[in-house]
Amino acid sequence: MPRILTGIQPSGTLHIGNYFGAMRPILSLQEQGEVFVFLADLHALTSLRDADALRRNVRDAALDLLACGLDPERTLFWRQSDVAFHAELMWILSTVTPMGLMERMVAYKEKVQKGIPAGVGLFTYPILQAADILLYDADVVPVGKDQKQHLEATRDIAIKINEAYGVGVLKLPEPLISEDVAVVPGLDGQKMSKSYGNTIDIFMPEKALRKKVMGIVTDSTPLEAPKDPEGSIILALYRLVAPADEVARMDADFRAGGIGYGDFKKRLFEAIWTYFAPMRERRAELEARPDYVDDVLADGARRAKEIAERTIDRVWKAVGLR
Ligand code: ADP
Ligand code: TRP
Repeated sequence: MPRILTGIQPSGTLHIGNYFGAMRPILSLQEQGEVFVFLADLHALTSLRDADALRRNVRDAALDLLACGLDPERTLFWRQSDVAFHAELMWILSTVTPMGLMERMVAYKEKVQKGIPAGVGLFTYPILQAADILLYDADVVPVGKDQKQHLEATRDIAIKINEAYGVGVLKLPEPLISEDVAVVPGLDGQKMSKSYGNTIDIFMPEKALRKKVMGIVTDSTPLEAPKDPEGSIILALYRLVAPADEVARMDADFRAGGIGYGDFKKRLFEAIWTYFAPMRERRAELEARPDYVDDVLADGARRAKEIAERTIDRVWKAVGLR
């Protein structure tokens, strides 16, 4: 069975784009292999310098994942900083990583352009990511397209280690880039993203959620006129959360005319509210158990450490540190 590993940056509230673009695909892999998921809190330090916010984000991300169906019995789930070997392996990897390889990383340049301080940690971020992956002998790493280059770098770094210290010291992972994951549009039709302020968060209170949905941008087609279902933000979101027959009905109602966008938005709100109801309930349940998240993460860390230790031991011996 392939070992599937991925890291999630705890970066605040979960929106519909995150859910359908990242979380649901990962959770569905739980049926297909041995899944390892960790919260990349060490990586988060490269863009967040607020201790309370980081603590809150980690807890929220853990609750979100657990509420959305991450099963900690089946899936190994831990927090990166709980397993110190991530940082230790990173150091060893950095000694074989060519400067030129890091200098080619596009994500670094994009982040600096966005205004994130150009620190050494941000620059070497992909080496820590390589350590995350190589530490667990992962076979497959599901990531978004934007992470493809980091996966290639991971393989290059593993090859460098194996060339220097012996075949098979580190296992080469394969990226799993889901090309077919559609980009979920936000309120204004651009890609839904925290950085555009156009998100619909899945665990919003009812009133706030209703207000968001009612704020979706529409054209000025009058109520009586037929409306174009193609390119409609309302329908694009509705397709994700409504049953097929309801989607077909909305599509037909668009074409027929006589119904205004306000009405479609109300249907969309109801569908979103209903779709996420079980997760919302589960999240409230878990939140009410004060130690639950800590216990899950502590147990995950203990199990992750055992696996990571075998790899780091192999690496230490290979390079001559033991
Ligand atoms: P944001 O753009 O809101 O900051 P992140 O960059 O933190 O979101 O994304 C976390 C994960 O969610 C990534 O795997 C990303 O590909 C996915 N994701 C984010 N927004 C969308 C979207 N609008 N459609 C599909 N997937 C998305
Ligand atoms: N860099 C990834 C992102 O921004 C998060 C991440 C950190 C990761 N370590 C990883 C993903 C290891 C896959 C494997 O989304």
